[in-house]
Amino acid sequence: MAEVHPDVESVVLSEEDIRLIVSSMGRRISEDYADKNPLIVAVLRGAFVFTADLMRAITVPCSVDFMAVSSYGDGIKSSGVVRIVKDLDTKVEGRHVIVAEDILDSGLTLSYLVKLLRSRKPASIEIAAFSVKDIPNHAPAVTPRYVGAHVPDAFVVGYGLDYAERYRNLPYVGILKSEVYSR
Ligand code: PRP
Repeated sequence: MAEVHPDVESVVLSEEDIRLIVSSMGRRISEDYADKNPLIVAVLRGAFVFTADLMRAITVPCSVDFMAVSSYGDGIKSSGVVRIVKDLDTKVEGRHVIVAEDILDSGLTLSYLVKLLRSRKPASIEIAAFSVKDIPNHAPAVTPRYVGAHVPDAFVVGYGLDYAERYRNLPYVGILKSEVYSR
């Protein structure tokens, strides 16, 4: 394994863990969506890495489009404010939509997005979340049909997840050292 970034305290999902998670999710989606030509909606920016891998793990015809929303900005806590920065180019009506997300925290982003996409009358809509934060006594605002892994309630980066736009390129998911964001 490549050396762990010095700003990372510990690795929670290794490259190998990620490979297994994504290929098993891809297999499930391929079974569930054979002949449905699902539209995978990647939520930028974070989900682009996961979506690229997930698409390659899906063995049935599917297409992809992108939406960009912003809820965290450059900070470390979810603000609850969701802003559409880029909308889809594809028509959703009658399509089987799978929203691909890198991390589900409060679920506010996805809850907003799913509501918005539902109003466009898709044939169905489900969520594929690569990771879900384990927050004690807190249920996220939405329930994904596909969940890759649960991650601790800590500041996690890598595999698309950033802190102030950094660390998205790490091939694993790790906990960021607190001194990095309290600097
Ligand atoms: C992150 C993440 C999800 C959202 C999850 O996005 O990618 O979209 O926050 O939080 P929630 O469940 O509490 O709503 P962010 O706004 O940081 O943008 P990014 O994808 O560009 O990193």
